[in-house]
Amino acid sequence: MAQVLITEAALERRIRSLARQIERDFRGGELVVVALLNGTVPFLADLIRRLTLPLRLDFLGVSSYRGATQPRKLIYTKELRLDVRGRSVLVVDDILDTGRTLSSVVAKLRRLKPRLIRTCVLLDKPARRIETLQADYVGFKIPNLFVVGYGLDFAERYRNLPFVGVLRPELYRLPSGCAIEP
Ligand code: XMP
Repeated sequence: MAQVLITEAALERRIRSLARQIERDFRGGELVVVALLNGTVPFLADLIRRLTLPLRLDFLGVSSYRGATQPRKLIYTKELRLDVRGRSVLVVDDILDTGRTLSSVVAKLRRLKPRLIRTCVLLDKPARRIETLQADYVGFKIPNLFVVGYGLDFAERYRNLPFVGVLRPELYRLPSGCAIEP
């Protein structure tokens, strides 16, 4: 099993305060929330239910971790359906790690000429950053650990955990017995 890093109660409190911050910053305007699949689902659901401003929701399918803990090439598995030209866009992702995913997504969205783009991530792992990029809204800064739960997976498992946890090393060993570097 995973060890708890961020409890359900802490997630709830922090998301409530993130939502208040977003409400203040976007007062009066309509937002297009662009959420990245699949890891954002629990965070997104909790965040948008706390937002009372008018918003529309769309998804981008992005896959970089495919079954192992090492990043691979970025693949878009679902494209946007809403027109974001001239709109305020809030990109929501589960975790900002190397920054490759978010910077590719922001560059892609910029080409669609929105009025502004802001980024919101539940977790920020600054230790592994490659791209010079910061999110506008960050739930929690975390140390360089491979985390699962609350949407985050290891080989597509553990997304349903209600907390953010750290896997015990024996759970991410290869069958041969050699551990994958998280
Ligand atoms: P980058 O490196 O592009 O990473 O900023 C963003 C995407 O990589 C995945 N990721 C993780 N997934 N535990 C996970 O379950 C982790 O510790 C982790 N670090 C990065 C995630 O899909 C994220 O959107």
